[in-house]
Amino acid sequence: KNSESFYSEDYGKSFHDVCHAINNTFIKKDFGISAGPGNPQQVILTANLPFTETPGGVIFTSMDAGVTFRSVQLPFHPAQAIQFHYQDPKYIVVISIDVSKVLPPTLSSPLNSLRGELILRRTQDFGKNFTTIAKSVFSFGYIGGFLFTSVMEKLASPRVIYVSSDQGDHFKKAQLPSATTEQFYSVLDGDEDMIFMHVDNPGDTYFGTIYTSDDRGILYSKSLERHLFGGEGKSDFTNVTSLRGVYLTNILEEDGRIRSVISFDRGRRWRFLKKPENVNCPDSSTKCNLHIHGEHSHFSGITPMLPLSEPTAIGLVIAHGSVGDSISAVRPDVYVSRDGGYTWWGTLRGPHHYTILDSGGLIVAVEAHRDRQISSIKFSTDEGQCWKIFNFTDHPIFLAGLASEPGTKTMNISIFGYRPDDDDQPMWVAVTIDFEHLLTRECDEQDYVQWLAHSDYDSDPETDGCLLGYKETFRRLKKLSACRNGRGYMVSRQQHSCPCTRDDYIEYGFYLHENTSECLLQADFLNQTQDICLNGELDDLQHTGYRKIPGDKCEGGFSPPKREDSFKNLCGKDILPASSNLHTVRSVSGPFVKKIIIHYTVAKKHEVKSLIMYDTI
Ligand SMILES: *[C@@H]1O[C@H](CO)[C@@H](O)[C@H](O)[C@H]1NC(C)=O
Ligand SMILES: *[C@@H]1O[C@H](CO)[C@@H](O)[C@H](O)[C@H]1NC(C)=O
Ligand SMILES: *[C@@H]1O[C@H](CO)[C@@H](O)[C@H](O)[C@H]1NC(C)=O
Ligand SMILES: *[C@@H]1O[C@H](CO)[C@@H](O)[C@H](O)[C@H]1NC(C)=O
Ligand SMILES: *[C@@H]1O[C@H](CO)[C@@H](O)[C@H](O)[C@H]1NC(C)=O
Repeated sequence: KNSESFYSEDYGKSFHDVCHAINNTFIKKDFGISAGPGNPQQVILTANLPFTETPGGVIFTSMDAGVTFRSVQLPFHPAQAIQFHYQDPKYIVVISIDVSKVLPPTLSSPLNSLRGELILRRTQDFGKNFTTIAKSVFSFGYIGGFLFTSVMEKLASPRVIYVSSDQGDHFKKAQLPSATTEQFYSVLDGDEDMIFMHVDNPGDTYFGTIYTSDDRGILYSKSLERHLFGGEGKSDFTNVTSLRGVYLTNILEEDGRIRSVISFDRGRRWRFLKKPENVNCPDSSTKCNLHIHGEHSHFSGITPMLPLSEPTAIGLVIAHGSVGDSISAVRPDVYVSRDGGYTWWGTLRGPHHYTILDSGGLIVAVEAHRDRQISSIKFSTDEGQCWKIFNFTDHPIFLAGLASEPGTKTMNISIFGYRPDDDDQPMWVAVTIDFEHLLTRECDEQDYVQWLAHSDYDSDPETDGCLLGYKETFRRLKKLSACRNGRGYMVSRQQHSCPCTRDDYIEYGFYLHENTSECLLQADFLNQTQDICLNGELDDLQHTGYRKIPGDKCEGGFSPPKREDSFKNLCGKDILPASSNLHTVRSVSGPFVKKIIIHYTVAKKHEVKSLIMYDTI
C-alpha cells in the first residue's frame, strides 16, 4: 500500500532515499509520483494519508529532482494523479472526490452512485486557491489544449461531453453521440490542434468508434470503426512520436480477430501494416500483415514493453508483433521501422525490453525471461539491422527492467534485476553501462543524410511527402554509420509548404436525399448544430463551406469556391439571399459522405431566425 522513493543523480549508479526530505511520509503507490513534462527536475509526490482522518491531501513539490521538497496542504483529497498543464507546467489539474462531506465514511464504494454529481475545481497556484469550473460532472480529462468533462445534464440521462480550450473558463458542448452510463468516452490523445476521442459502442462489445476533432474540440469526424477497447480501460492507440501524423492501433474485426491498423495522416485513413520483407507468413494465413501488440497485450503479460518511438529519433519505431492474418499471442517477436511505420523489419526473436539511446543512434535490448537469468545486453547502431552482444556480468540476474534518463540523449543505461543470495532472499542489483566506451567515434557530416519524411519516392516531387500542407526533410544518421550523435545533438529539419488540395480542407457534410435531392441534416446533429449556431460559435465557418484542417499549413493550389459560386449550386435552387448577415454552417463529415452546407440568417447576433439547408455538390 505504501512505498518509498529514491532518486538518482548519476544515471542509476547510486540512489538516495527521499524519505527524510518528505518527513517520512508515505506516498501513494498507484499515482504517487508525477514528473514535470519536459523538466525531469520537477517532481510532485502525493502523500498517502488516511481518507477519513485528514481534511485534505498533501502533496510535496520539488524543483530539483527530489533533493528538496515543499509540502502543500490541499483542501481536498486527490483521486487521480496530478496532471501538468501541457504548455506551462506551473499549472496543474487534479480530480477530487470528496466523499466525507456527503456520506458516512462507513459506506463502501459510494463513488459510482455519485458520479454525475461531481464538481470540477481548478487551482492555478499549486493548491492555495480553488475555483469550481464545472458541475454535474461524471468524469473529466485534460489533454493537449483541451479540458473535457462528461456531464449528466439531467440525473441518469445519457452523458454528453463538454470541452474547454481555455483551461476551463468556458465550456462548449461537443458534437458527439451521447453515452449511457454503461458506455464510456475516452480521449485517446490530443495536442493543441485536435484530439482523438473513442466513443464506446453500446453493450459489452469491446469496441467503439474513434472520432477526430476540429481545433476547438467541438466538431468531430468519424475516423475508425470497431476500435478495440478492452474492459480494463486499456487501448492500443499509439502516437508514433517519431513521425508527424502517424498513429497505430488495433481493431476487433467481425470474425473476432484482432488486427493492427496504421494511419499516416492523423486519422483520416487507416490501413493494415505491411509485412516485413525478411519475415515469412504462416502457411495458413490468407491475408498477411504485421500486427502490433499494444497496451492490451502488455497488461495481460504477453509483452514486456509497449511500442516505443521518440520525437528525437526520427522515423524509428520498435514494437512487439506477429505476422499473419491477425495478432497472435504466441511468443511475440520484436520489429523495427525506420520510416515511421511504412516498412518494417523483423529484428529480434522473442520478447525483449528495449530502449532508444543517443537520439536514435543506439538501440539496446535485453531478452525478457520470467524463469531464466540473463547476463548480456544486445545493442544496435544501425536501427536494428544488426545486433551485437555485450556480457555485462559474470553473475546472471533475473531482469526487472531497463532505466535511463528521460529522453534519448544519454548513452547510459541501467539494467535492473535481482539474484537470489545465499539465504534465498532476492538481492536487488542495478548494472549501469556507459556506451560511450563502446561507441567512441563522434559522428561527422559524412555520417548524415537528408531524408524526406512520408515520401513514397515515385509521386509528383512537388507533393511527395506532403502532410497537412507541408513536408519535412530531416538530417539523420545513415543506416550504417556507427558513431555517436552526442548529448549536443539536435534534430535538424527543413519545412516546405505544399500546394493546397481538397484534402487540406474539411467539408462538414450533411447528406443529400437520394430520391428528392433535398439536402437533409443528419437528425442527431440538428439540435447540437443549432446550439453551436446560437452560441455564435460558427462565425469562422462562414465564407465558403470549407475549413482548413487544424494545423494545416498548405499555401496556394486549390482554393475553395467563392461563396457566391456555392450558393448558385445549392440543390439546384436559386435562392441567393442578398443579405450580408448570412452564415454558413457545416456539420462533421464522418459518416455522411456527401457534402452539404446549411445557411441560416441571423436577425440579431446569436439568434437564429431561420434555418435553411442547401446542397453544394
Ligand atoms: C518537515 O517537518 C519540519 C518540522 O516540522 C518542517 O519544518 C518542514 O517544512 C517539513 N518538510 C516538509 C517537506 O514537509
Ligand atoms: C503525437 O506525438 C507528437 C510528438 O510527441 C506530438 O507533437 C503530437 O502532439 C502528438 N499527437 C497527439 C494528437 O497527441
Ligand atoms: C558472452 O557469454 C556467452 C555465454 O555466457 C559466451 O558464449 C560469449 O562468448 C560471451 N561473449 C563475449 C563477447 O564475451
Ligand atoms: C554517462 O554517465 C556519466 C557519469 O557516470 C556522464 O559523465 C556521461 O556524460 C553520461 N553520458 C551521457 C551521454 O549521458
Ligand atoms: C429511394 O427510392 C427507392 C426506389 O423507390 C427506394 O427503394 C429507396 O428506399 C428510396 N430511398 C430513400 C432513402 O427513401
